[in-house]
Amino acid sequence: MSSIASMFDRISPKYDTLNHLLSFNMDKVWRCKTAKTVSTFCPQTILDLATGTADLAIALAKHNPKAHIIGIDISEKMLEIGRAKIVKQSLENQVEICFGDATRLPFSDNSFDAVTVAFGVRNFEDLDKGLSEISRVLKPNGKVFILEFSMPGRFPVRQVYNLYFKHVLPKIGEWVSKDCEAYAYLPQSVERFPKPDDFCQNLSSFGLENCKVKPLTFSIATLYSAEKKVVIGERSALFSYFCALKRKLNEKEILICSHRHFWLGLALDGTTR
Ligand SMILES: C[S@@+](CC[C@H](N)C(=O)[O-])C[C@H]1O[C@@H](n2cnc3c(N)ncnc32)[C@H](O)[C@@H]1O
Repeated sequence: MSSIASMFDRISPKYDTLNHLLSFNMDKVWRCKTAKTVSTFCPQTILDLATGTADLAIALAKHNPKAHIIGIDISEKMLEIGRAKIVKQSLENQVEICFGDATRLPFSDNSFDAVTVAFGVRNFEDLDKGLSEISRVLKPNGKVFILEFSMPGRFPVRQVYNLYFKHVLPKIGEWVSKDCEAYAYLPQSVERFPKPDDFCQNLSSFGLENCKVKPLTFSIATLYSAEKKVVIGERSALFSYFCALKRKLNEKEILICSHRHFWLGLALDGTTR
């Protein structure tokens, strides 16, 4: 089991309470905004990655009553809590959630009208692989919606937020969850996450174009959306993944290995068209 999965397993009983408490309930507003934005383009099939305790999957079901929603996550304990909420709200026919890794999706190419992720991509052990998989399973012209924390840029919000996020929040998180790792990891992972422009470029390198960036609540969170553009002779998601891998690796030896992967990607690309 990955260390991320066991960390979320450990904090799962307190996850929802802490989410609402530490964000002053803004997390509910942000998920609701995401679900409403998704509904404007009327998807029939939605895949919610890193679904956790299913709050976004449930909000999606309410705002998209005709859509079928599948949620996947690598933490069984988070999923258990999510399943109980789905049953309590009688949404079993519309929402199903199961174990699955976003970087190795068990779905065939071009399966979903929309893919959503709330506060999840930051935790992927291989972000590029996750984006490549999102692009692969989206139907042509399908859309991805990614809700993620960001850092406010403006004085004095940035300074106040930094103080809260780096010093107060980890202490409350540790005190309530009794886990010192998880809530120290949160600000660190947000700081490591690419800035909005870089993240849009990242999406674009996987064929996810027209990236729109919507800052929420002083840019504490950001909603990204992008569209899978398909043109004839387009690069497959797998090919794009190898291109991104190649861009990233600088060491000579790794480059040789990456070149092999690149050509393997190219060969596979030919077979997947
Ligand atoms: C911060 S929680 C977000 C949960 C939920 N989306 C929400 O809005 O509250 C992050 C979730 O990402 C999941 N996760 C991390 N890496 C994953 C991966 N590679 N595949 C699927 N889920 C993953 C974790 O298990 C955890 O449940």
